[in-house]
Amino acid sequence: MKLGSPPPAELLDPAERMSVAEMRALQRERLGWTLRHAYENVPHYRRAFDAAGVTPADFRDLPDLAKFPFTTKADLRANYPFGMFAVPREQVARIHASSGTTGKPTVVGYTQRDIETWSQVVARSIRASGGRPGMMVHVAYGYGLFTGGLGAHYGAEAMGCTVIPVSGGMTERQVQLIVDFRPEIIMVTPSYMLALLDEFRRQGVDPRGTSLKLGIFGAEPWTEAMRAQIEEAFGIHAVDIYGLSEVMGPGVANECVETKDGPHIWEDHFFPEVVHPETGEPVADGEPGELVFTSLTKEAMPVIRYRTRDLTRLLPGTARPAFRRMQKITGRSDDMIILRGVNVFPSQVEEQILRVPHLAPHYQLILTREGPLDSMTIAVECEPGTDDGERQAAGKALAHHVKAMIGVSAAVDVRDPGAIERSVGKARRVVDKRSR
Ligand code: DLL
Repeated sequence: MKLGSPPPAELLDPAERMSVAEMRALQRERLGWTLRHAYENVPHYRRAFDAAGVTPADFRDLPDLAKFPFTTKADLRANYPFGMFAVPREQVARIHASSGTTGKPTVVGYTQRDIETWSQVVARSIRASGGRPGMMVHVAYGYGLFTGGLGAHYGAEAMGCTVIPVSGGMTERQVQLIVDFRPEIIMVTPSYMLALLDEFRRQGVDPRGTSLKLGIFGAEPWTEAMRAQIEEAFGIHAVDIYGLSEVMGPGVANECVETKDGPHIWEDHFFPEVVHPETGEPVADGEPGELVFTSLTKEAMPVIRYRTRDLTRLLPGTARPAFRRMQKITGRSDDMIILRGVNVFPSQVEEQILRVPHLAPHYQLILTREGPLDSMTIAVECEPGTDDGERQAAGKALAHHVKAMIGVSAAVDVRDPGAIERSVGKARRVVDKRSR
């Protein structure tokens, strides 16, 4: 595989060429505007700031942001559907929503200018991933209320690419279109990319022989081991794109292909903080905690200190020195399983699965409770053609690695190829059968 090449300087946005000091000055100015915009136009923020005893005038420099109250998904739900908008509804050009697992969806809105900003950060993300104008992009993120499909689509168009808006699903046809149209780039969840891999093999098409050079994967956690597996299977670069609907959608942060060392956060539009998940106290850069974002330019729905629930740490910029990176997300605080006192993330189990020969990277963690004790069963598929002996050995090896590396005992259920539910978007990794 060729090394990914950085874009020539003339293709970079002005913000990508800033110094850290210039970036901080820009953020200071934009934070001041956002706090005023939210306070003056969104009743929720006026109430929340008043309750905390702060006004936008209390913001003079970046550390002052910590005086302002957090915003949570519950606040968005409480103001369902359009209560968080800071502009009259007629100025909202687009609505998206995230379904969530329980209750009402969270609704987000964009002005025409927000859509342009979003397209620009996704275009920048595609460029950082190694994409260039004129390339063809197969978009297999879902189109609709989910931000993945349309977010990728507008970004790829803004970049000057030829876009194929396939959306998720109809796996057989996805492979056909890749073979016939010959796109260089695919944008899809990493778990659905693995479903496509199975389909390539089923149709007898060599996945390394396609036109694809680059995959831009996100919307769910995926490990370095998964990256290595996808890169090897398809002979492509696999690059991480991060985002969430409440803050914008895909393109809040993106890896640079030449370093692949965690997504650079596009800090000219999204100001990051990491806080202690329980106390909410900001932690220093480099320390782990929960990622929190304040939007810097959003008109329709500014967000102030939005608690993402995503766990990571902030690291200095590398390929783009003006932007800090986030460590590749290991999990969400919501996905953390506490098994007999040990914290376990699905991604930790994924890493161990990918070490064991004959196991396929399709898995689910099934939680049950018998009496007072919680148990976890790792349901995982074996590769086609695995015999009974290999299957047993693989199950044993996985149980051993999980105990040794993560510190929990888990049962392993090695299933036939295709036996684990496939999702066309975000994979469901945890099946919780414990009665609450
Ligand atoms: O998943 C936006 C998106 C679409 C991102 C396509 C990238 C590609 P939501 O549905 O609101 O938005 O879900 C956001 O997904 O808080 C993370 O927990 C998770 N997530 C998104 N990207 C990544 C990633 C879209 N690269 C939630 N790595 C976020 C790990 C991710 N988790």
